[in-house]
Amino acid sequence: MTRVDEIIDIPFDDAFRFDPSPTWERLRDTRPVARVRTLAGAVVWLVTRYDDVQFVLTDQRFSRAATVAPDAPRVAVSRPLPGTLPTTDPPEHTRLRRLVSTAFAHRAVERVRPWIGDLARRLAADVEAAGTGADLRQLFALPLPVQVICQLLGVPYADRDRFRAWTELAYSMSVEEEPRVEAAMASLTDYVAGLVAARSASAGEPRDLLDELVRGTDEGSLSGPELVGFALNLLVAGHETSANQIGSFVASLLRDPAHWDHLVENPGLVPSAVEELLRFNRLSEVGQLRVATVDVEVAGTTIRAGEGVMAAIGSANRDPRAFTDPDALDLARTPNRHLALGAGPHFCLGAQLARIELQESLLALLDRFPQLRLAVPAEALPWRRVLVSGLAELPVEWS
Ligand code: HEM
Repeated sequence: MTRVDEIIDIPFDDAFRFDPSPTWERLRDTRPVARVRTLAGAVVWLVTRYDDVQFVLTDQRFSRAATVAPDAPRVAVSRPLPGTLPTTDPPEHTRLRRLVSTAFAHRAVERVRPWIGDLARRLAADVEAAGTGADLRQLFALPLPVQVICQLLGVPYADRDRFRAWTELAYSMSVEEEPRVEAAMASLTDYVAGLVAARSASAGEPRDLLDELVRGTDEGSLSGPELVGFALNLLVAGHETSANQIGSFVASLLRDPAHWDHLVENPGLVPSAVEELLRFNRLSEVGQLRVATVDVEVAGTTIRAGEGVMAAIGSANRDPRAFTDPDALDLARTPNRHLALGAGPHFCLGAQLARIELQESLLALLDRFPQLRLAVPAEALPWRRVLVSGLAELPVEWS
């Protein structure tokens, strides 16, 4: 039993497995605003109930900019880059977000859906060519979002192994790896700065998002370092998340193959299934950090100015106070007001792009592999112990 004065280490001992940590459920019931110690040694608050998570994500008194102040509590090993979307507050954040909001708007992103659908079908055909079994993470879940963000941003796909290795390290949760993490962040920054420098000289119509952002610096709306941070954030956020979610989605459906079979029979359910799978699968074992700028009361606890608070989205999405039968995977769930893509000013910029990637991935795989099955028991699947949750491997087979 958790004592009221206890500070719990996060990620919890019972995290990184198929089902969400039972500690989340216990905290929701007994201590909805709890003290936790991050891997980097900072003591912050953790909120686990749906209403409180939504409140922390949306209330402007909780700052993201303050999470990069020199004395800010740290969640993990790498320090977030200042001056990017996730590390600014309105009105600065509003200014930055406006620069890319058109490119990521629903209508603009829908225009690339056919291309993403083709890519998903091509990759599914490549998987089939592997024989009767394969690691779906390596052959499908990872290459799809990497190719998509490379294409949109204008990053050479041939460089993927380099920026993937740095990205992996950037999300490390192992404090012992700090020097390697810092070196990886420096390499990633140099790499993106090189891409930007090559663009600054180019003229003519923008060919991709990087061109558009470079144009933004020419017009004075974005400084040089801001541009590098911005592009780096898009490159990393734009593939790591979707790649892990594609793997988790397929595994969740195959854990009880009746779900897979049901979608094979009813592909029209895919959009609602994607929303449910977003709710069902967590992207993080920890939470989204904010720092209170003034004293704020949350569920009867006062969070003092300067204190950190993490919003556990994965817990909120399983809160029985917000969802009926929250641990059941109900592919037709309506309504489904999950918080998987965030809420408030920092709501996921790539939400529509992610939805398209996830929908088109499922459609291509359901069509190509109606008999898809896990090659190992679901409970034996290996989870990555890093900031963005997901499977290290996804061995599947088909007949
Ligand atoms: C399934 C895939 C994805 C999930 C579950 C996801 C989830 C999230 C969440 C929860 C946030 C809010 C974080 C917070 O409030 O602290 C966020 C923000 C963000 N996401 Fe995503 N994301 C996904 C895919 C993408 C993609 C494909 C992109 C492509 C560019 C992207 C770009 C971003 C950016 C730039 C932000 C920061 C927005 C801001 O601070 O204004 N995400 N995402």
